[in-house]
Amino acid sequence: MIQGPEPEATRRSAGTTESSRANRRWWDRNADDYQREHGDFLGDDRFVWGPEGLDEAEAGLLGPADGLKGLDVLEIGAGAAQCSRWLAARGARPVALDLSHRQLQHARRIDLGGAGGADPAAGPALVQADAGVLPFADASFDLACSAYGALPFVADTARVHREVARVLRPGGRWVFSVTHPVRWAFPDEPGPEGLTAVSSYFDRTPYVEQDDRGLAVYVEHHRTLGDRVREITAAGLRLVDVVEPEWPEWNDQEWGGWSPLRGRLLPGTAVFVCLAP
Ligand SMILES: C[S@@+](CC[C@H](N)C(=O)[O-])C[C@H]1O[C@@H](n2cnc3c(N)ncnc32)[C@H](O)[C@@H]1O
Repeated sequence: MIQGPEPEATRRSAGTTESSRANRRWWDRNADDYQREHGDFLGDDRFVWGPEGLDEAEAGLLGPADGLKGLDVLEIGAGAAQCSRWLAARGARPVALDLSHRQLQHARRIDLGGAGGADPAAGPALVQADAGVLPFADASFDLACSAYGALPFVADTARVHREVARVLRPGGRWVFSVTHPVRWAFPDEPGPEGLTAVSSYFDRTPYVEQDDRGLAVYVEHHRTLGDRVREITAAGLRLVDVVEPEWPEWNDQEWGGWSPLRGRLLPGTAVFVCLAP
């Protein structure tokens, strides 16, 4: 938890280093609360694309599940590596990368059976690194994926796509989910106040929480739908699908600003499916 006065929420510029440093500290401080609050919904070894609950087991955005066997997979912004564990159970060889040491400690906790009883030997490899500088050789992976990991928090997302394109083998797949861009025009509130557009969708100024000295303690970055498409194609990747999960009847859970009320009216998540040449 953040000690001292509540941080101030504002919109201002925040570069690569400031964003990365602020978010690493934020996720280290808040990982325990995050896993306590969302761990049941995420499951120890499920692959959930976002708060709507779209499950890879049904969505098949990574390709047919029986085709995952033997693939080298990079999960970016893996958190406690729940998605990587689902991939490992299907015979893939996942590497779970995250900026936050504390998030990766939660991954290890789950692998050691603290919560889910998973087999530690079958757990994914864990790597602490920044998504903007992937510590892997060219053409190391068949598949890269990210469920809300890293991309919402990174200043230079174009660089992440270039890095992913570099580490993918020819024909490899890159699938990632982020907050749906249209949400940036609305207050991040689950109730009716979150249904009225109050700011410009076109304003790319980052959302920043800063301390009383003006230092960022949390940063999120906005890209419009067109920005995302341009960044993907500029990295040499081909965009083959954009999935906007609908809010399902069974899901009555709120997750921050995501709620059944808003989910029935507005998209909350966008999942981009890309292929390397
Ligand atoms: C919302 S969580 C998503 C993790 C997991 N898929 C889940 O649903 O819990 C975002 C994760 O991205 C990580 N992250 C943030 N910025 C990052 C960066 N620049 N590079 C790598 N990981 C980053 C955070 O540490 C956090 O674990």
